[in-house]
Amino acid sequence: MDKLDMACVEARCRWSGWKEKLCTAEEAASLIQDGMTVGMSGFTRAGEAKEVPKALAKRAVRDPLSITLMTGASLGNDLDRLLTDAKVLSRRMPFQVDATLRRAINAGEVMFIDQHLSETVELLRNRQLAEIDVAVVEACAITEEGGIVPTTSVGNSASYAILADKVIIELNLDSPTELEGLHDIYIPQMRPTRPPIPVVAPDSRIGTPWIPIDPAKIVAIVLTRGRESPSTVLPPDADTQRIADHLIRFFSDEVSTGRLAPSLLPLQAGIGTMANAVMSGLAEGPFEHLTMYSEVLQDSTFDLLDAGKLDFASGCSITLSEACGKRVWPRLDAYRDRLVLRPQELSNHPGIVRRLGIIAINTALEVDIYGNVNSTHVGGTKMMNGIGGSGDFARNAQLSIFVTKSVAKGGDLSSVVPFVSHVDHTEHDVDILVTEHGLADLRGLAPRERAVRVIEACADPLYRRELRRYFDEACRRGGHTPHCLEQALSWHVVAERDGHMRRLQEERQAEMPA
Ligand code: COA
Repeated sequence: MDKLDMACVEARCRWSGWKEKLCTAEEAASLIQDGMTVGMSGFTRAGEAKEVPKALAKRAVRDPLSITLMTGASLGNDLDRLLTDAKVLSRRMPFQVDATLRRAINAGEVMFIDQHLSETVELLRNRQLAEIDVAVVEACAITEEGGIVPTTSVGNSASYAILADKVIIELNLDSPTELEGLHDIYIPQMRPTRPPIPVVAPDSRIGTPWIPIDPAKIVAIVLTRGRESPSTVLPPDADTQRIADHLIRFFSDEVSTGRLAPSLLPLQAGIGTMANAVMSGLAEGPFEHLTMYSEVLQDSTFDLLDAGKLDFASGCSITLSEACGKRVWPRLDAYRDRLVLRPQELSNHPGIVRRLGIIAINTALEVDIYGNVNSTHVGGTKMMNGIGGSGDFARNAQLSIFVTKSVAKGGDLSSVVPFVSHVDHTEHDVDILVTEHGLADLRGLAPRERAVRVIEACADPLYRRELRRYFDEACRRGGHTPHCLEQALSWHVVAERDGHMRRLQEERQAEMPA
């Protein structure tokens, strides 16, 4: 280590015991043994421990081992792929987005536990999951007391470090030192005597800016360098722009009828291009003094802060595109008093979501005519990413909104179907559905009324007639939520057989009298 590095480490590492714990990533990884449960930092490609998992993957190639890996959410720097290729993962929870891991999950090689993101550490605390043996957490600093200052995500890092027997810290010398002070770490007390969690507004600060742990548990400190992987959010296309436009118009109407104030309500936006486009679109509307109480803070958060539209944003991670990162990271100080990063069990806490009256905007893979939403399983069986925080927010929000394009795979698949092939969010949790064709406001409607709205406002014209035919026949048979059960999943059966749903139209047309 040269003199400059040493000065930099000493400024970040204020705990007196750090020198004895300094080691290489390989030495730290050797503390992780076959069969262990490991909790790692990392949430939507932000703040993951970078070198220890890589060293673990390398070691596993020579000396096979497998672990249960828990994180906040997805990992950046290709780590889920490296760990999957090295066959390190026997169980993985609670969320991922990696194509290689996805294949292993769908092949039954990795047991994936798809969980509401607010729940993982509650289950751990109650010992309903295997106890954490080792926590590996990326830090930008270590305090005098041995407290860990996380980097760009908090995720589940605090509880993993508190609950683990051993803690490995990766001190990232490239992480902005201005991150210190941004975090608000609060761990709810044990149930059933837990007092109310005192978050009463997005900007409430109720904890400490570091993770308080017993420093005797720190078994290794690894010095690292390296930045976060940039987010993969794409710029809006014509369809996502239309979806954003429908929603902006809806919010404007809600403001003009007095149901919402121009500051709306605290906003939550899910991962992905569509939710990001909708949030960016708010810069154009008649809205001011907006706030966010969300999970991941994406480019749109900083666009709105820069536009003077957003007063404050609370999240549990910051994930930015390359271009936005170049703009934001060097100027982090300019945003610091308008941001807070919390543990994900608080950013996604159902009680707080209900208390604050959040507007939740999440993305669906497909929706059905009655408002049930599938966010996770393609064709009812193949895991895409996971439910993430969408369920934490959707059930408890004041306004629960799902967006999706009306078709997928160039029109081969309708995203509006008679019955979703997998249910993540039930009809009871969904207020508004939006596609590029329109917005269906389902509030206060019975299933038969909802179906008409969803088909007419949201379905693509290519599939609308067939949906109407299904619904008419189902209504003739009767019921509160009418269905033709033998046909309800037939759209997915046809898609599995032929690779597309277009055949449905052709078959039906062939059956019709000329
Ligand atoms: N049937 C099959 N595949 C579909 C589909 C459907 N009805 N709708 C979309 N897809 C495919 C797309 O073709 C695309 O595939 P590709 O990666 O091979 O191109 C993929 O799903 C992603 O769809 P895209 O339209 O690019 O949307 P996105 O990037 O916004 O992701 C979700 C959409 C649903 C996958 C994503 O938002 C997600 O994982 N949501 C669940 C978790 C969540 O909501 N978290 C936030 C809570 S805070």
